[in-house]
Parts: sequence; structure tokens; C-alpha cells
Amino acid sequence: MVLGNIKLKNGVSIPEIGLGTSGIYEKGVLAVNIKTALQMGYRHIDCAKGHENQREIGKALQEASVPRKQLFITSRIPEDMLQPELVPCAVKEILNELQLDYLDLLLVNWPSSTGSGLKNDVYGAKCYGPVPIMDTWKAMEALVDSGKVRAIGVSNFSRAVLEMMIPQCRIVPTANQIEVHPHNPEHNLVNYCQLKGITIIAHSPLGGGSVRVMDDDLIQSIAKSHNCTPAQVIISWLWVRGIAVIPRSNNESRLKQNLSTVSLTLDEMQMIGRIQKRERRLDSGNNIEELTQIFYGNASKCPVV
Ligand SMILES: NC(=O)c1ccc[n+]([C@@H]2O[C@H](COP(=O)([O-])OP(=O)(O)OC[C@H]3O[C@@H](n4cnc5c(N)ncnc54)[C@H](OP(=O)(O)O)[C@@H]3O)[C@@H](O)[C@H]2O)c1
Repeated sequence: MVLGNIKLKNGVSIPEIGLGTSGIYEKGVLAVNIKTALQMGYRHIDCAKGHENQREIGKALQEASVPRKQLFITSRIPEDMLQPELVPCAVKEILNELQLDYLDLLLVNWPSSTGSGLKNDVYGAKCYGPVPIMDTWKAMEALVDSGKVRAIGVSNFSRAVLEMMIPQCRIVPTANQIEVHPHNPEHNLVNYCQLKGITIIAHSPLGGGSVRVMDDDLIQSIAKSHNCTPAQVIISWLWVRGIAVIPRSNNESRLKQNLSTVSLTLDEMQMIGRIQKRERRLDSGNNIEELTQIFYGNASKCPVV
């Protein structure tokens, strides 16, 4: 099956299936992985400065020589570079590591940060407390204006955070990269984001090696009836929901398999959506204390506390 793209709300197209790149550090292994994936037709590579492997990805992208316009490259700002004055520095470093002139999508990785300033002495950063999200976001908006990034988005943001954030945005997030799989279906958050035109990108779609979603009895039995793998059932279920998916695999046949969806029936879609088991790898939370920190840095700056 030939897979297409999803249009982000600003008109930029993101491939429906991309490649995750976390946890692959062995020298040379990731480069082979990226080049193999590009040969198979993957065009979206999901990167993060925090993965500490962007240099190898950049080298592989150069060697694979797929025209830049055909690629969709996402990266995420590390948590210790969310101060607004550091955001452009983070992107400069990311682009330098990836050997690129611009990013297709820049994400803020997590709604709250300690802004611990670990490496920030390099840039003489003054702020060492939590960074209000709108300060970071305004710096990201400026990067769209300057052409360094084509689209900006968020990751692991709850509905409560987005509801507070959206009215304050000049550029509304185009995407929310969150953990979604049948054991963490996120029906409400996915519906809310899609209604607001925010594209969902599913990270950890196969459970990331710790959530045993591929072992689920229903997923296994549907896979058997379609003569495909549990991973293909999960990716297809996400794909039908209009969610962009970024599975990671370091194995050639699984890379290929993950690009090929199957036609699930409406009944199968609904049965998967009704799986009751809940397990997840990450939880961004959204209680009042966290919202205060996310938007005001700390309680003393919050007008309502
Ligand atoms: N924004 C965030 O906070 C965040 C958090 C986590 C992840 N991410 C992004 O999301 C990407 C995907 O998540 P992830 O890497 O954690 O986990 P994942 O894609 O859910 O799962 C990867 C695991 O599944 C295995 N696998 C892949 N395809 C398979 C198949 N067809 N059949 C059976 N097993 C298969 C892989 O093993 P093999 O390599 O042996 O195939 C690997 O162990 C990451 O790489 C990263 O780019 C973002």
C-alpha cells in the first residue's frame, strides 16, 4: 500500500508513517538504519537533540542524498534549552548536527521544564528556574518567521495545557506528538486536537519495548485473521484514525513491514478502541500545580494563586 501525507494546519505535509530514532546509539548502526529506511520510502525522520544521535543521522542523510524537499525532518528542543534566548541556539545546534538549513517541524518536548540550565552556561543563560511555556513558544514562533522551521508543535501536551495555551498563541501548534497505542488510546485528547486542527503524531506506537501492547490477545487475533503482524494492526489502527505514526525498528524486515498497513473493518477498529487495558510509558499530567508551573514558571508569578 502506498502511504500518503497528512496536511498540517499551515499547509505543510507530514508523511503518515515516519521513522523513530530513539535508543539507537551504536556507531554506524543508525546510519545504516536511516539509509535503509530512506531506500524503502520513509521520508519522515523523527529526531531529538536529547537522543544524542543527530550527528549520525545528519551524516546518513547527506550520504543517502534524497532531495531535501522530499524529506520531513522533525526535532525537539532539549529541556535545558527552553529559555527563549536559548531556543534559537538549540535550533542552530540541531541544524548543525543534522547538516540541514531548516527543520520541517520543531517540537517542544514536554509541557513543563526545570530549565535547570545544565549546559546553558555555554550561552550565559540567566534563568535557571522553570520556563513559562509561552516564553518558549514565542521564541519558536519567531523561528517560523525567520524560515528556520516550517512548522512548530508540542509533545506530551494534555488538553488542559492546550486549552490554556491556544488563546495566547500567534501560531497555534500544528502537531502534538503523544504516546498513543491501543493500551493508551487517548480518545479525548486525539478528538480535541483533531477538532482544533492539531495533527496527532503517535510516539511509542508499538509500546516502545516496555508496554506489551503487541502481545494483547485481541491485537494478536486480529493480526492472525489478516495474516499480518500485531505491529501492522496497531499502525493501521492509528493510521485510520488520521494519526501520523513514527515506529522505530532496527531490523530491515520490520522496517518494511511497518510501512505496510492492512484494511481493518469498522468492527475491528471499534473493538481495538474498546480495549480496557491501560498502560503507558510517559504521563505528562495536568494538575493545577503543574499548570501553574507550565504557564508562570512558579506560583509567585501566577496571577490566580
Ligand atoms: N516525544 C516524546 O516524548 C517521545 C517519547 C518516546 C518516543 N518518541 C519517538 O517515537 C519513536 C517511536 O517510539 P519508540 O522508539 O520508543 O518505540 P516503538 O516504535 O513503539 O517501539 C520500538 C520497539 O518495537 C520493536 N518493533 C518495531 N517494529 C516492529 C514490528 N514490526 N514487529 C515487532 N516489533 C517491532 C523494535 O524492535 P526492533 O528494532 O528490533 O524492530 C523496538 O524494540 C521514538 O523512536 C522517538 O523518535 C518520542
